[in-house]
Amino acid sequence: MHAAGEKIAMLTCYDASLAQVLDAAGVDSLLVGDSLGNVVQGRADTLQVSMDDMVYHTACVARGNRTAWVIADMPFGSYHESAEMALHNAVRLMQSGAQMVKLEGGGWTAPIVRFLVERGIPVCAHLGFTPQSVHALGGYRIQGRDEAAGRVLRQHADELVAAGAACFVLEMVPAALGRELTRHLPVPVIGIGAGAGCSGQVLVLHDMLGVSQTEPARFVQNFLTGNADIPSAVRAYVAAVKDGRFPDDARHSY
Ligand code: KIV
Repeated sequence: MHAAGEKIAMLTCYDASLAQVLDAAGVDSLLVGDSLGNVVQGRADTLQVSMDDMVYHTACVARGNRTAWVIADMPFGSYHESAEMALHNAVRLMQSGAQMVKLEGGGWTAPIVRFLVERGIPVCAHLGFTPQSVHALGGYRIQGRDEAAGRVLRQHADELVAAGAACFVLEMVPAALGRELTRHLPVPVIGIGAGAGCSGQVLVLHDMLGVSQTEPARFVQNFLTGNADIPSAVRAYVAAVKDGRFPDDARHSY
């Protein structure tokens, strides 16, 4: 899809029933995000999500899914100590039904990414705002705002591609940087609050259905508004991503 220039529609998903609905509605990729800490478990952040939580939800999603590409998040602390620890935990996620794992962070994760990729585990990197580092980043803040920060982000992305990252999630960066990185990198860049110039988009499912407990971020659109039911809302999201109507830089970007 990336090579053909087709936009990639991704949503988070945490259970079998909604996996079946999202897959049938044409979502290309289901992300079993550690955002389940927020929207399923009701926590303030993602830091307490465990490997057991991720294994459980990945297996649920895999059972409901037929064709979408399933990516599972490696939770906070599950890849931080050593590459061997990362491999052990990534294997658990792959054996639960994931087709790719995602981990957050810049250049320090490159040796871990390389270690996993060399052992047959596809990896998606996550740059920009990385929710597992919310306290280190001083809250939910846009990243890469100035030229120097943009350069650092680009350098981290290059290191991750060299290590074998096959895909990126890019969160909460200025639209101009999202576009530039997408043009620069040889692999798909899935944006969330990173502007309309990315290769695809992801939203947290609960956010795009308007059932989150917190105030929606600028980059969120409630697709249930104006649609009769969840399958119609998801189809509307997929269509809007595919034909470039979502996100709209004037309304959803930084
Ligand atoms: O956990 C998650 O849902 C994510 C998205 C914010 C991209 O990583």
